[in-house]
Amino acid sequence: MGPSERICTPQNSGVPPAQAGEFQPLRIGSLSLETPVVLAPMAGVTNYPFRSLCRDYGAGLFVSEMITARGFLLGNKLTTKLAAVHPGEHPRSIQIYGSDPKDLGQMVARLVDEGIDHIDINFGCPVPKVTRQGGGSAIPAKPRLLARLVRAMVAHAQDVPVTVKMRIGIDAQTLTHMEAGRAAQEEGAAAVGLHARTAAQLYSGDADWEAIGQLKSALQVPVLGNGDIFECWDALRMMRETHCDGVIVGRGCLGRPWLFGEFVAVFSGQEPAPPPNLGGVLEVMEEHGRRLTELFGEELGVRQMRKWTSWYLRGFRGAAGVRAQLSRLGTFDEMRPLISTLGLEQAFPRQALRASRAKGGRTQRVKLPEGYLDDRDDDTPPKGPHTADEIRAWEKALGAG
Ligand SMILES: Cc1cc2nc3c(=O)[nH]c(=O)nc-3n(C[C@H](O)[C@H](O)[C@H](O)COP(=O)(O)O)c2cc1C
Repeated sequence: MGPSERICTPQNSGVPPAQAGEFQPLRIGSLSLETPVVLAPMAGVTNYPFRSLCRDYGAGLFVSEMITARGFLLGNKLTTKLAAVHPGEHPRSIQIYGSDPKDLGQMVARLVDEGIDHIDINFGCPVPKVTRQGGGSAIPAKPRLLARLVRAMVAHAQDVPVTVKMRIGIDAQTLTHMEAGRAAQEEGAAAVGLHARTAAQLYSGDADWEAIGQLKSALQVPVLGNGDIFECWDALRMMRETHCDGVIVGRGCLGRPWLFGEFVAVFSGQEPAPPPNLGGVLEVMEEHGRRLTELFGEELGVRQMRKWTSWYLRGFRGAAGVRAQLSRLGTFDEMRPLISTLGLEQAFPRQALRASRAKGGRTQRVKLPEGYLDDRDDDTPPKGPHTADEIRAWEKALGAG
């Protein structure tokens, strides 16, 4: 396929594939990734079935959804399942959520014993339940606290790279990425991932790619740019514009795991294959369903698949008409007859390339503990969920599983 038949939106029609030698492999500590692309950690999404599906199409690093350190250490059933080791998953990458340095150190030590290859820490979660306690995206506002948490992890990581993922700040008045990025680097973080929005912005508006370039020019460790990569060409544009070392891709791959094959193509100088038609998408859905069933069992697997069906079918003609039935899916066998009624030869809809698949355009006033920003030098760890019941309630609120 030549550039004139390229299936993309107008802003990407003239973007050339990578030139030989234009981009270096992404080096994160001892890891070296020829295609500098990372699957974003996404709660309730990047479990093993989806990670393995994305990996089968492409290459890169495929990060787990966030795993709460406390839940992991307490042996919480769901957390344990989500953090489990799967044979053949290499490099194996986990994102941790936690704010107690002792918990973080212990979890890292255990993961290292199990042979983990990469550990990321979540300093970007904007959910009120989390920030109200001073966790997640509230942490970078206190660089000494962030430093303390990173230090606790790096101290137990041996030669496993620890990376940090954060946002650009709390809101437009409190931008924190430069100071927080430097603090992470100083404590031995092997790379810093930046979702170029504030916590107040949630997922709305355009990500501020200039902030990614600004951080890149200030740090020696690799910077991973994140925000609004919906087409493989966006990854090239982000790297060319910001000079970041790699990209993290979130919503763009929801219901589009083949995007990872497209990244491999464009980073190796080629035009990507066109996305599958509806029949091809249905086959991917069925494979995804098989993998969900293997890990979670049929009942929970089907329940999980319900939300995926609307992501997979986004933009196809007639999809709205079967949405209600698919959202009540009882068995995987019901998918084919229902979706076949839409015409399996339908080509992939161009307008679906940048369609919002999750997390609408809301903004928020970020909830912080009383007086939280009064002492930015404070490094006291916030209280997180502690008991098994509190952890379960948390994970439910955050959408894990
Ligand atoms: C459903 C969903 C769940 C998410 N869960 C997490 C998470 O567990 N950890 C995290 O660091 N970010 C999480 N994020 C944020 C993404 O990792 C990413 O930073 C964000 O979506 C911006 O990238 P994008 O524009 O490519 O989607 C989540 C995003 C979505 C849409």
